Amino acid sequence: MSIRYNEATKQFILETASTCYQIEIDELGFLHHLYYGPKTGQGDLAYRYRIYDHGFSGNPYDMRNNRAFSLDSMPQEYTSFGVGDFRVTSIRASCSDGSRCFEFRYSGHEIIDGKYAIPDLPSVYNNDDEVQTLVVSLIDGPANIAIRLYYGVFENLDVITRTAEIINWGHETVWLRKASSLCLELPFGSWDMIHFHGRHCMERQPERVPLFHGIHTLSSGRGMSSHQHNPFVILCDRTATEDSGACYGMMLMYSGNHKTEIELDQFDSVRVVMGVSDDRFRWELTPGASFRAPEVILSCADGLTQLSHRFHRVVRNNVCRGEYKLSHRPVLINNWEATYFDLNEEKIVALAQKAADIGVELFVLDDGWFKNRVDDNAGLGDWTPDTNKLPNGLDGLIKKINDMGLKFGLWVEPEMVNENSDLYRAHPDWAMTAPNRAPMMARNQLVLDLSREEVHEYIFDTLSGLLSKYNITYIKWDFNRPLADVYSHSTPSPRQGEVTHRYYLSLYRLYERLTKAFPHVLFEGCAGGGGRFDAGMLQYSPQIWCSDNTDPISRLTIQYGTSFGYPVSAIGAHVSATPNHQTGRLTPLSTRGTVAMMGAFGYELDMTKLSDEELEEMKGQIKRFKELEPMIHNGLYYRLSSMKESGHYFAWQFVAPDKSRSLLSIVVTNPLANSTPVHVRLKGLDSDAIYSVNGEFECTGSALMNAGYTFPQLTGDYPALQLDIIKVK
Ligand code: GLA
Repeated sequence: MSIRYNEATKQFILETASTCYQIEIDELGFLHHLYYGPKTGQGDLAYRYRIYDHGFSGNPYDMRNNRAFSLDSMPQEYTSFGVGDFRVTSIRASCSDGSRCFEFRYSGHEIIDGKYAIPDLPSVYNNDDEVQTLVVSLIDGPANIAIRLYYGVFENLDVITRTAEIINWGHETVWLRKASSLCLELPFGSWDMIHFHGRHCMERQPERVPLFHGIHTLSSGRGMSSHQHNPFVILCDRTATEDSGACYGMMLMYSGNHKTEIELDQFDSVRVVMGVSDDRFRWELTPGASFRAPEVILSCADGLTQLSHRFHRVVRNNVCRGEYKLSHRPVLINNWEATYFDLNEEKIVALAQKAADIGVELFVLDDGWFKNRVDDNAGLGDWTPDTNKLPNGLDGLIKKINDMGLKFGLWVEPEMVNENSDLYRAHPDWAMTAPNRAPMMARNQLVLDLSREEVHEYIFDTLSGLLSKYNITYIKWDFNRPLADVYSHSTPSPRQGEVTHRYYLSLYRLYERLTKAFPHVLFEGCAGGGGRFDAGMLQYSPQIWCSDNTDPISRLTIQYGTSFGYPVSAIGAHVSATPNHQTGRLTPLSTRGTVAMMGAFGYELDMTKLSDEELEEMKGQIKRFKELEPMIHNGLYYRLSSMKESGHYFAWQFVAPDKSRSLLSIVVTNPLANSTPVHVRLKGLDSDAIYSVNGEFECTGSALMNAGYTFPQLTGDYPALQLDIIKVK
């Protein structure tokens, strides 16, 4: 039993294998957060709070004679405005009389076996895990608005999921202005925030900063989870390292506009509020209607490595779905950086043949294959093959590719439309554009208004038409511009604030229908590289193109940052040409291979221009990746270097689940003259076992983990080394 309720103390105790979460219903019915952290063996933790008189903080009416009782200084589970708590709030709404004050008090609870699901939204699901759900109901009497707080307790995964449902039980419409998924309080301690910011071609750059007083906001208003701020954040003790120290991770399972507010308040207490962004959000809640917030995956751990391992496990096993979630991911060749738009059947067939010869398993035909798509000015929306480029149609091309023993995959960008397309000419109102204004352009395209049912159906029909007609086993689903001038021509004006969230509800439903109808197809997500790299998308596409930047040296930081929250199997990573097309950097093929092997491995370059030696080396890489993939994707991943070392080198390690083998990788980003040798302490091995280190010598696991390993001096341009650590006894 992972959830208990103690009637005498009015406390909920939620326990996972190593953590505990405690909530108390206080004397007025407010839901008081008692504790989240390692298990303590102590049932009642209410002793940790003492109420001081905080003077200018407000007091609820029932406590008018007790100046010390104030919600402004109390850790809570979900907070509102108008009750004397002036910190970041979890919910904002306005009633028909214009009032915006709410006071949510306990009205009941349920403990249910199994994991709740959220209608219309992706959520963590249960395999054979021990899972229970706690639902606590709160109500604001005067407005008759209820909140149901959901806690999914995954005992063995050491994960708790959270979400909220807001229900209007009143007789008047209520306008929701904010409806967060999570409020988490860390009332004591001193904390650093680690977040993952970035830009196109430089996603998920990790940044660790001490919290200062005030509100830190991490958000995206771009209509996508974004290149700029990933919806994943860590709060860790200021002294925490990879190996120890309290670390809390919060991951929003959502791909649209999001916001995380982290407030360090006047009493040095931290509150985190996370959910759909409230900027430009306004949701009509008619009598009887409810709003469901997306899910947050929450975990706390001792050290950053343990926290990452917990997120890797839950995302890989309980977020990703479908046939490919745990199975082999085909090694692919993508033609984008080989041909860009300048493709034709002859070039594609030549490229595919080279790839087939060296062991590639899947050919992905990228952008440019459809009518009028000679550049990015036209064609999006009309998904019929360009017979000028492909005289034998897609069918003819796929047949040739299949005959080489390769599977076939196709790039699509179904949510978009060019003005120069038959679709736009027929349905200009299907695009999101603000009335009486010229549309905002990005990459010369507009976004289709997926909140409209006919657009949803059009995209479903188009994609299922392609998937039924052709032998396609993989889809790269791209999304190459933000939502800017958001406006739906079919939504009444007061409800325009719902459009972006409705867009995502429709997108998830679309993915749901397509993945059910075509279970054998592997979907890879993409948004100008990794602009929609989030747990929401990972429910449907178990891998996501991590970045349009394929330079292995840039990728080191991008993939390092991504690894804090997301499993290696989710990271689409390709070997590309040198000089690199984004940075112009020259790197050895072995380095490009080493970096791309930290992911779902593939190639993206013109193989017809390579020498026999290069092709031979690639053949070896493919063979090696196929052999190592079970460990790389199913094993544990360890970061052995920190951002401090990144100006010199990056080192990382994979360890098989049974610890029988490991792969140690290093890339030197800046060889230093006369420097101290790079020395790392390995992790995750069996202490008592003897390992062969690359066939060169034998050593105990304990020695490799405690005394460590010293790399030979690596010189030249960005050298890399992979070492096989294999258990011999
Ligand atoms: C985006 C993707 C690329 C490629 C191009 C095609 O930028 O991230 O991988 O597919 O679109 O236009």
